[in-house]
Amino acid sequence: MGFSYFRPMEHLQPNQPIGIFDSGIGGLTVAKAIHDHLPNEQLLYFGDTAHLPYGDKSSEAILHYAESITQYLLDKGCKMVVIACNTASAVAHEHLQFKFGDQIPIINVIDPVVKATLKLPAVKRIGVIGTKGTIQSNTYEKRIRSIAAELQVASLATPLLVPMIEEGYFDNQISHTIIEAYLNYPDFLHIDALILGCTHYPLIKTAIEDHLQGKVPVMDSTDVVAQSVQQRLQRFGLLHEGPASTHHFMVSDYTHSFEQTARLFFQEDISLEHVPIWDQIESH
Ligand code: DGL
Repeated sequence: MGFSYFRPMEHLQPNQPIGIFDSGIGGLTVAKAIHDHLPNEQLLYFGDTAHLPYGDKSSEAILHYAESITQYLLDKGCKMVVIACNTASAVAHEHLQFKFGDQIPIINVIDPVVKATLKLPAVKRIGVIGTKGTIQSNTYEKRIRSIAAELQVASLATPLLVPMIEEGYFDNQISHTIIEAYLNYPDFLHIDALILGCTHYPLIKTAIEDHLQGKVPVMDSTDVVAQSVQQRLQRFGLLHEGPASTHHFMVSDYTHSFEQTARLFFQEDISLEHVPIWDQIESH
């Protein structure tokens, strides 16, 4: 008689792709980190450029988009879904977990960076910057204080940063002025760590570190999320060992400018495929 080994999610197989989605192309910073950490994994990236930006949308709209995209990635045969958008993670993670969590592991970009920040030495006061949607949801503060109730959290919506970065302004007079204006927020005066709560912000991490003169650790959700993806795949016996199949980068609306910006975020020459899923969903 052989042993039967119970593997949770045993309907999933290691050679299936990892699904990653974002409101647009910013989530490619997370996709890039996953690609670098786990080069054997195939990635199916979906950027909902037709609905960009999520940062200013209502929770109802984001829940609807996030649920439809997750279903689409499931239908495409993904073994995991990574919500590579802080706004969607803040607003829709619990809902997606409730709806799909027994079918597929779902990773958000907030928990890994919160855990990594709480491991830093002598942290008492944490600053968080993000879109209006992320900051208004108060998700960072709730997650931080659910683990360490004594910590103080100072949050600030920084909506100019996304368009600034998409225009390619990372390190010039305009970007320095905007970063400085935001980081001079009085509540940030005595922070011991700053969380970049938006998947666009890793592109200006160096400029932010420079502004803080290297005195405050700046945390982002790229490497920590990739590590979390690795751990979760390992736990479910879903790490792929053979060579990766070709990645796919899909967008719900295509423009040449999205493609150019995508290269900035993924740091490689990638092509975007236009997949108008909303036409298909609405015609059903
Ligand atoms: N991807 C979004 C985030 O990380 C920023 C862009 C948007 O507002 O859609 O919050």
